[in-house]
Amino acid sequence: AGSLKVGLAGLGTVGSSVVRILQDKAAKLAAKAGRPVELVAVCAKEVRDKNLDLATVRWVDSPTALAADPEIDVLVELMGGEGDPAKTTVETALKSGKHVVTANKALIARHGAMLARAAEDRNVAFNFEAAVAGGIPVIKTLREGLVANRIDRVWGILNGTCNYILTRMLDEKLSFEDCLKEAQRLGYAEANPAFDIDGFDTAHKLAILTSLAFGTEIDCDAVYVEGVRSISLADLEMADELGYRVKLLGVAVRTDSGIEQRVHPTMVPKESPLAQVGGVTNAVKIDGDAVSLTLIGPGAGGPATASAVVSDLCDIARGDRIAPFGRSVDRLVRPRRAPMQHH
Ligand code: NDP
Ligand code: HSE
Repeated sequence: AGSLKVGLAGLGTVGSSVVRILQDKAAKLAAKAGRPVELVAVCAKEVRDKNLDLATVRWVDSPTALAADPEIDVLVELMGGEGDPAKTTVETALKSGKHVVTANKALIARHGAMLARAAEDRNVAFNFEAAVAGGIPVIKTLREGLVANRIDRVWGILNGTCNYILTRMLDEKLSFEDCLKEAQRLGYAEANPAFDIDGFDTAHKLAILTSLAFGTEIDCDAVYVEGVRSISLADLEMADELGYRVKLLGVAVRTDSGIEQRVHPTMVPKESPLAQVGGVTNAVKIDGDAVSLTLIGPGAGGPATASAVVSDLCDIARGDRIAPFGRSVDRLVRPRRAPMQHH
């Protein structure tokens, strides 16, 4: 086969890192994927990283035009946002018979089923490994590695920005606002950081994990959400004195009365492994009937997230096709919502 021809929409933190990896590691990726993965076209409002070499890449005026561009095989959506232009761009690409890779968890949490169905209809890939826990290959783990398991719980630290803020505040005695600014400077935060600090980004990721873990339709509105916006340094110091670290956790549990999904700050005993997970690192714990495990790794940032995007591209280049949620959309079960328990 010839090269896999990639069109990229969005050249921000993640998009720039994807360009760098595709260029710097071109030969190694071609060897691993069996053929070159070649960036042929981009659409971006501006190029923030002035050192990017885009001399050989064609510019396309609009993301939807890029999505339908006859030269590309796969559209990589890295603009963000659950609405347009991301939604129409991804939908157009899939309906045009292009594969799609995205890191956009807000889009998947809201429109994942519709988009997965569009991918199924055209027999193309719709991959989103980067959408949950940045560089950690948790989607592959749930969808493929743990396929033989009945999963009863999936939970952990799913937002790098919040974990970075909570860690830095206590370690460096800094204010919430200063730590948030730093997380934004480092490229960890969402374009609108309210999604991070109010817990909605964690809810989006949890809703995706829940669907993959339990084989249910995504039910983002069922997630109980409480963020970290009002946590002060004094709160963290008080928890510290009592022997705890405060972590923003996302928890999805299968119970007798249905599926419970919740996101909230939690006091975690200092000596527990989760309490040791600091900075932008994420941790995802999965409890299966045969295998229980914890995945720990970088949860945000350009290089880590781009690592997952490029992994998805290499899967497509190899010809790997797997249903986005591990089974046909028609086989996803409507979830029963468990009444909220107090913890
Ligand atoms: P950025 O805001 O850094 O980059 C998004 C880019 O898309 C910006 O350059 C933006 O331009 C551009 N863009 C927005 N709208 C359009 C448009 N209509 N046409 C062309 N370009 C457009 O975001 P990130 O790179 O951080 O995130 C991208 C995606 O990856 C999001 O879905 C995010 O949730 C997800 N993600 C991010 C991670 C991270 O660590 N940053 C980790 C995991 C997932 P402009 O700035 O001019 O508006
Ligand atoms: N804003 C997100 C975070 C990016 O901080 O975790 C990774 O999804």
